[in-house]
Amino acid sequence: MTVVRGMRYDDLDQITEIEKECFSLPWSKDSFERELQNDLAYYQCAEENGKIMGYMGMWRVLDECHVTNVAVLPEYRKMGIGSMLIEKMVEICKCSEIQAMTLEVRESNAPAIGLYEKYGFVSAGKRPRYYMKPVEDAIIMWKKI
Ligand SMILES: CC(C)(COP(=O)(O)OP(=O)(O)OC[C@H]1O[C@@H](n2cnc3c(N)ncnc32)[C@H](O)[C@@H]1OP(=O)(O)O)[C@@H](O)C(=O)NCCC(=O)NCCS
Repeated sequence: MTVVRGMRYDDLDQITEIEKECFSLPWSKDSFERELQNDLAYYQCAEENGKIMGYMGMWRVLDECHVTNVAVLPEYRKMGIGSMLIEKMVEICKCSEIQAMTLEVRESNAPAIGLYEKYGFVSAGKRPRYYMKPVEDAIIMWKKI
């Protein structure tokens, strides 16, 4: 059974492999170690029998949460794992008096935009040339909690 649970230090080798598979500028293991030491950061991963299939992170900034990353290994996509991760983060926000969630997404990233729209995120503008490798605009999305 797939469970969504808090990320731990002993997950980080698997997490950094997922980063490399999913992003052109992957975060390093050190970056994730710092995230796990940050009291304002929340990181959850989807795991089944020790295998980590995906993860999601966000930072609390006052009464908002800023999503930092969401990733699911290619072979486990379209199976509801991204949804499980978002549902867990929304639940955390609801329990923490958070008023809104926000994120940036590449404007060409239809799977991610579809996932966020499914959970009530709406587009609120663009950040021109926000991404590198390749250079691309970001869509800014918000969801009220
Ligand atoms: C975005 C991502 C996390 C989605 O994870 P997932 O586990 O496949 O998502 P789910 O199976 O829960 O799908 C949820 C919804 O997302 C949307 N979606 C997922 N894959 C899609 C695709 N290929 N095309 C269009 N919409 C898609 C659909 O609305 C879907 O709902 P539905 O199943 O009711 O149609 C995954 O594609 C991924 O890791 N991509 C690479 C990393 C990335 O781009 N992260 C986002 C950075 S901003």
